[in-house]
Amino acid sequence: MTRIFSGIQPTGRKHLGNYIGAITQYVAGQDRGEGIYCIVDLHATSVPYDPAGLREAVYDTAATLLAAGLDPDRCVFFRQGDVREEPELCWLLCSVTAFGDLNRMHQFKEKAGSQRDLVSASLFLYPVLQAADVLAYHANEVPVGEDQRQHVELMRDIAQRFNSRFGEILVVPEGRYPEVGGRIMDLQFPDRKMSTTGGSSQGIVYVLDDPGVVSRKIRSAVTDSGAEVMRAPDKPGVSNLIEILAAVRGSSPEEIEREFDSAGYGAFKQAVADAVVAYLAPVRERYQELRADETQLERILVEGGDKAHAIASATVADVREAMGVGPVRAHR
Ligand code: TRP
Repeated sequence: MTRIFSGIQPTGRKHLGNYIGAITQYVAGQDRGEGIYCIVDLHATSVPYDPAGLREAVYDTAATLLAAGLDPDRCVFFRQGDVREEPELCWLLCSVTAFGDLNRMHQFKEKAGSQRDLVSASLFLYPVLQAADVLAYHANEVPVGEDQRQHVELMRDIAQRFNSRFGEILVVPEGRYPEVGGRIMDLQFPDRKMSTTGGSSQGIVYVLDDPGVVSRKIRSAVTDSGAEVMRAPDKPGVSNLIEILAAVRGSSPEEIEREFDSAGYGAFKQAVADAVVAYLAPVRERYQELRADETQLERILVEGGDKAHAIASATVADVREAMGVGPVRAHR
């Protein structure tokens, strides 16, 4: 059975691009294989942050994922910091990670460049902890955005180098990149991806926005001169709305084009707005219920952490043994 692993940052509010591109993929993964999903609070400490804010953000993210349909009975859903084997494995894997490779990571260079005071060592080691996340669970498949391609390539290299140096213990995972939905663009600047960093406030639809706000943002999306509801390179605004409606309905862009052939932009945008509102409304309602009960969220995460720990501790025991580190297992 395919084992799927992904990690999600406990940062900010999730937007429609995150939702369609990543979160719905996690939910679908529960049916396709064995899903293991992690909120990466340890990764979040690699840039300046506020401890109380981190806890809030972890609960916000947990409630969002549960509201979207992650089912703790059908997947392993946990918080990275609950599993101590992960930072331990990160250290062990550092021995088969090239310093030069880490120095070439785009995300490190970008994030390091934007830090005003401290560039932490954890920012540099971030990709090794990410490798440990995946390799600790012998995952075959890693659904992530395009921006994570370099990190996935690195974890593959790390696993291969480990196996050739210490013996075949780790599974070399494959990245899985979204086809649609990875391409949801900013509504105001449709030549850029919808993103909380560098996006426009009117161009981003948040999962938890009020229905009225969602509708307004979509109805005021930038479209192009012309009137045809058709995808074209010089019509990024309309193309984006077509992709969004197709993703939300679970249909194809071609079907949307056919249906709205002669509708005009106004009616088309209204239809997209209504569809997105209807799509997000139940998620928002479930979110509010789930988010109100922190005790329950904490319980779900701790139980998920126990399941994750059971898998990761077996891997790390094998890794330690192979590396000749710590007590000999037979003597314990
Ligand atoms: N770095 C990923 C991101 O920023 C999050 C992440 C952490 C992750 N650990 C992971 C993704 C393991 C996939 C697998 O989106």
